[in-house]
Amino acid sequence: MNHYYLLGRSGLRVSRLALGTMNFGTGGWHAAYGKTEEESEPIFRRYVESGGNFIDTADFYTAGESERILGRLIARAGNRDRLVLTSKYTNSVDPSDPNASGNGRKHMIRAVEASLKRLGTDHLDLYLLHTWDRITPVEEVVRTFDDLVRAGKIRYAGLSDVPAWYAARAQSYAEAHALTPMVTLQLPYGLTMRDVEHEYAPMAQNLGIGLTAWSPLGGGILTGKYQRAGQGVVGEGRLGDPGVAAPKIDDNTWRIVGALEEVAEGLGRPMAQVALNWVVTQPGVASAVAGASSEKQLAGNLAALDFEIPADARRRLDEASAPRTPQLYSMFTPEYQAMVVSPGLSIGDKPAGYAPPVLNGAGS
Ligand SMILES: NC(=O)c1ccc[n+]([C@@H]2O[C@H](COP(=O)([O-])OP(=O)(O)OC[C@H]3O[C@@H](n4cnc5c(N)ncnc54)[C@H](OP(=O)(O)O)[C@@H]3O)[C@@H](O)[C@H]2O)c1
Repeated sequence: MNHYYLLGRSGLRVSRLALGTMNFGTGGWHAAYGKTEEESEPIFRRYVESGGNFIDTADFYTAGESERILGRLIARAGNRDRLVLTSKYTNSVDPSDPNASGNGRKHMIRAVEASLKRLGTDHLDLYLLHTWDRITPVEEVVRTFDDLVRAGKIRYAGLSDVPAWYAARAQSYAEAHALTPMVTLQLPYGLTMRDVEHEYAPMAQNLGIGLTAWSPLGGGILTGKYQRAGQGVVGEGRLGDPGVAAPKIDDNTWRIVGALEEVAEGLGRPMAQVALNWVVTQPGVASAVAGASSEKQLAGNLAALDFEIPADARRRLDEASAPRTPQLYSMFTPEYQAMVVSPGLSIGDKPAGYAPPVLNGAGS
């Protein structure tokens, strides 16, 4: 699994398959499908022993247990320096304290200190704002990231689950003031969730931000192990558990699952591998942050980049999963653009150094 990629416009090399550890631990919001330390260890071990270096957690996962477990697993494996250890902050850690939540400077500094303690390390390689709080000025967030880099608490900074305009503003502000840039944007992306392609992917490519795709298997629906049961699903896994908040699974989702099944069968590959391969090789994507509930699941998924999806199979997947194009964006397609730009004018006519806007679906 020695596929590494530079994360955004940076010198940081990350595995193209990151290990999501939202299910390490049995506390908090993710308790229903959480794994104990004993169950998590073989997953972690298999990942790092296969060459993986990109580990994703957050202070909020399993109420801090994910970070605590990871800290102990890393200490036992003795591989801290090899890892690109990533955590996130935002969620409230004390509902009675208004400054113990959100994106503000006070919470961010407290949150990073708490994460470092739980992880048993003195720095994070990558630190992300987890979710936009709709309040804190973007300048405050970028400045604080920069302070944390200078203080040696974090090496790189990024964002997750923010509006595209917010990410663009953060990156432009950082550039204008020579502050720490955003090297990644972690977003929901996969065959069943392609909304990010309209605005985020071209933005990321133009602004030097590497996309990281979360829940690239749709929480498991793209592994093919579930069957339709009325409005819900049956099958061995968390989506079959009525106690788990599951993503929306509608007729369109089943159509995508059907196409994936067909393509995977034709390629002689498990559906999960094809789904992961597809998203990792989409324009602007640096890595997919996938979870696993067992070493066996992970082992299969780690082979996801050992093959290429042939063009015709890719077209079948693209068409079956195509997101609806919002009205405005239909004006940025090559067909419409033929009316906007003189036919004789090509990108080659631009002065050297001009970075053309990347259209949705253009190559990576
Ligand atoms: N930034 C954010 O807001 C955000 C949000 C969500 C997640 N994340 C990150 O993304 C990571 C992945 O998220 P996720 O777990 O929701 O999504 P996922 O990677 O789409 O789904 C992972 C789940 O699918 C099932 N699975 C995986 N491989 C399988 C295989 N080969 N065969 C059968 N089942 C398989 C397992 O669940 P079962 O065994 O239960 O079926 C596994 O836990 C998280 O750990 C976290 O790091 C970030």
